[in-house]
Amino acid sequence: MAYVRAALVGFGMTFDGETAAALMREWTTSESLRTHMLAVEAAVAAYARHEGADEDLWSATALLHDYDYERHPGLDVDGHPFVGVAHLRELGAPADMLDAILGHADHTGVARDSRLAKVLYACDEITGLIVAAVLVRPDRDIAQLGLPSLRKKFKDKAFARGVARDDVRRGAEELGVELWDHVAFVLEAMQARAEVLGLDGRIAEGP
Ligand SMILES: [Fe+2]
Ligand SMILES: [Fe+2]
Repeated sequence: MAYVRAALVGFGMTFDGETAAALMREWTTSESLRTHMLAVEAAVAAYARHEGADEDLWSATALLHDYDYERHPGLDVDGHPFVGVAHLRELGAPADMLDAILGHADHTGVARDSRLAKVLYACDEITGLIVAAVLVRPDRDIAQLGLPSLRKKFKDKAFARGVARDDVRRGAEELGVELWDHVAFVLEAMQARAEVLGLDGRIAEGP
C-alpha cells in the first residue's frame, strides 16, 4: 500500500474506485463492514450514473465513508469519521469527498450540502436493511428479494434493529425522492452487484 500512497501524494489526487477499495481493505478487515461499504458504493455509483455525476469520485467516497470505523470506532474527534477524513485530506482527497464523509455521520454536525453528501446519507442505512433481509432468506439470494418483503421488514421494528428507520426516511426526503422509489433503486443497484457483495445465493443454507 505504501506505493499507492506515494502515488496519491505524488500526483495530488487520483482517487478512483480501485485505489479507494485498496485503502478501504487496508484499514478494514471485517467482512461485514467491507460488504457494507461495497453495498453503499453499488448504490451511490448507480446514482452517479443516473444523475450524470463524477462516478469515480462518488464511488471512492462511498467506499471510504466508514473505512476508519474498525480502527477508530469512537464518535468523538479522535474517532470515526474524523480520523479517516484527516488521513484522506493528507492524501489530497477533494473537499467534496471529505465533506460528504463528514456529513454521513450526524454527530459531526457537518451539513449535507452537496448532492454527493445527500446521496451517500440516503444510501447508508438502507443498504443495511437490504443485506439483513437477504441474510435471513434460506436462499441468500438478493435476486429473489422483492420490495413487498422489504416494506414488511422496514415496518417490523424488531428486525435489524440497528437500521435507523428515521435516518432512512430523512435521507430520502433530503434527496427529494419518494422513499420506496429510492429503496427500489438501491435494491436494483445491489442486485446488479450480487456477486461482489456475496449475496448471489452462493452461501445458501443446505437442505
Ligand atoms: Fe459511518
Ligand atoms: Fe455506513
